[in-house]
Amino acid sequence: MKLLVIGSGGREHALVWKLAQSPHVTQMWCAPGNAGIAAERLTSNQQVECVNLNADDLPRLLAFAQEKKPELTVVGPDNPLALGIVDLFQQHGLRIWGPNRKAAQFESSKVFAQNFMEKYGIPTAQAGTFSDERSAKAFAASLKGRCAVKADGLALGKGVLICHNVTEANQAIDEILVSKAFGVAGAKIVIQEFLEGMEISLHALCDGKTAKLFPTAQDHKRALDGDEGLNTGGMGTYSPAPFLDDRQLAEVGRRILDPWLQGCSAEGIDFRGIIYPGVMLTPNGPKVLEFNARFGDPETQVYLTRLENDLLELLDASVNGTLAGMELRWSPMTSVCVVMASAGYPGPYVKGKTIVGLTEAGRLPHTKVFHAGTTREGDDLLTNGGRVLGVTAWGVDLPRARALAYAAVAKIQFDGAQFRHDIAAKALG
Ligand code: AMP
Ligand code: GLY
Repeated sequence: MKLLVIGSGGREHALVWKLAQSPHVTQMWCAPGNAGIAAERLTSNQQVECVNLNADDLPRLLAFAQEKKPELTVVGPDNPLALGIVDLFQQHGLRIWGPNRKAAQFESSKVFAQNFMEKYGIPTAQAGTFSDERSAKAFAASLKGRCAVKADGLALGKGVLICHNVTEANQAIDEILVSKAFGVAGAKIVIQEFLEGMEISLHALCDGKTAKLFPTAQDHKRALDGDEGLNTGGMGTYSPAPFLDDRQLAEVGRRILDPWLQGCSAEGIDFRGIIYPGVMLTPNGPKVLEFNARFGDPETQVYLTRLENDLLELLDASVNGTLAGMELRWSPMTSVCVVMASAGYPGPYVKGKTIVGLTEAGRLPHTKVFHAGTTREGDDLLTNGGRVLGVTAWGVDLPRARALAYAAVAKIQFDGAQFRHDIAAKALG
């Protein structure tokens, strides 16, 4: 089967790496890909080919797919999904994996997601949705300003402002609704009560009728150790996270996914892809903070190093509506991913720094270095983004996996490299 994968980050490298292990795959392109993706090989030893097309350039991606005729296109990032790449490809008779535009609204509109959760009884924060500043401020005041103020639309992961008092909440509301800091993405806002607890990532693969829950993972969103500093796309993950046992995970999954599936059916939403709820485990039970409609980054790196199934067979079943008969199989190993980022990330950063030590890191057992923002220039591997590498390792238990991931990180250098030293520390108590 010929495959086209769309995206260029660590998530897409993990997707390509896992899909390349499938004996069904005969050819693979990735648009636009990165240096790590370009070095992957299929089981036939044929190389994966990166094509210089942006993930949100829908017309050119369509033209490419019409010419090359991949039997399946796999979409990594949120933006092309929100733009309707799935609808567009399907209109042209091309098979594609991911939620269509209507289904992608779980991520592309926080107002949609919040209303849906309330309508179908999915446990979530107490919340209100607003487009006018005065009623928003009155609601925030009723929460004593302890709240999360969220722009409705996609805002590169920056559209959520956590507030501790009324002054901060009013500032956040002004920033989004009045100063339009996120443009049209902030024409409406959701204000949620501030929830305390342990935050975990859940993923479920769906085929429109069935949702198959993954094990737990935990991300580290803040830039600095101890959850200090700015919010990022994610600085490291591990799976499983020990805050739920198997029975509790199944129960949490049931409380979220059963009403979610019922709601999708009632609203005529045909969700084929990954639904990824961000969940806070509060003293009053699990509550969904938000939905994403795609694989998490860097959750994918730890999930796919544990997945024992042929990923292509799972994605095929997701597209075909035949997931009910499939069993997801996970290695009992723990997997840990430590992200190495450019100096300054998530603020402005410089690209083009030479990366060394990957060969040495690659010699460690049970280790895979996924590339995110990298490019090749001649013989040199250079940084080309904020998040540069997702250094991933697995082991029989968390301490061993973690030690191995950090041993690999220690072998890799580039000018200004920053990473968190406390990935998975919460699980070690
Ligand atoms: P979101 O993009 O909605 O997941 O928000 C980004 C991050 O903000 C989440 O990963 C949480 O760490 C934090 N957050 C979002 N909503 C809340 C909330 N209601 N209470 C506490 N923290 C939140
Ligand atoms: N890991 C955070 C995200 O993918 O949104």
